[in-house]
Amino acid sequence: MAVIAVFNQKGGVGKTTTCLNVAAALALLDKSPLAIDLDPQAHLSLACGAATNDSRETIAAFYREEKSLLTLVRNAGEGLHLIPGHLELSKIDALHGRSTKVAMRLKQGLNEGLAWDDQPILIDCCPALGVLSLNAIVAADGVLIPVSADFLSMQGVHRVDAALRVLEKKLGHTIRRRIVVTRFDARRKVARDSLAELRERYGDMVCETTVAETVGLTESPAHGKNIFEFAPNSQGATDYNALTLELLNKGFFQ
Ligand SMILES: Nc1ncnc2c1ncn2[C@@H]1O[C@H](COP(=O)(O)OP(=O)(O)O)[C@@H](O)[C@H]1O
Ligand SMILES: [Mg+2]
Repeated sequence: MAVIAVFNQKGGVGKTTTCLNVAAALALLDKSPLAIDLDPQAHLSLACGAATNDSRETIAAFYREEKSLLTLVRNAGEGLHLIPGHLELSKIDALHGRSTKVAMRLKQGLNEGLAWDDQPILIDCCPALGVLSLNAIVAADGVLIPVSADFLSMQGVHRVDAALRVLEKKLGHTIRRRIVVTRFDARRKVARDSLAELRERYGDMVCETTVAETVGLTESPAHGKNIFEFAPNSQGATDYNALTLELLNKGFFQ
């Protein structure tokens, strides 16, 4: 199954929430997913209840000490695997920023160290197109772009699309992508207008499923739980399950 980078240069749009809960939904479907926390803020690791102070146990050790990815995988709940992130990741840009080879590091590491052939891998990216996000996009078969339905996020998504077009030229192949509208409140005109604008501009790239703004999704990270553990009957759980099924059924994980 595919490697998916969850990316948007804008922060606070639901990247980490989407990465965690799509991975958790895949786990419930017995797909044995692996989530990789490639954000120095390590919010995904925190939200899984699996943050660690020891950078040697995190993906930072893969970049700094060439530790194999396989040795960094840990359990993060029923059927869910995680390679945690760490603040040390913030130094990778400064250390390797000038080398073009570094963009390939994660792809090589996944090919060498992990034989997750039939298992999906989701990479939670940081909100910047630096070395780390480039690693994720180069390693990925597809990019999932969470967007919140407001004016500034709309500007952000056009920037992501432009950046991916530039990368496509450099890589010499198209980058499959899906846009998912998160934090959606259908009562707000700006949300409805944003969704309509996205559908008009990006067509089938926009997921049919939207993820509603719900309190369970705001509160669950503080408990180190995904939405299916924290509030299995909530709208957030329903939406992330529907999103995951839509992505699976439309072949995004192939
Ligand atoms: N659908 C949602 N409903 C309510 N709160 C959400 C939703 N999606 C994300 N959040 C909250 O919004 C904040 C930012 O989300 P996050 O996933 O961390 O964004 P990003 O990774 O893009 O910075 C977090 O506090 C998260 O709990
Ligand atoms: Mg995040």
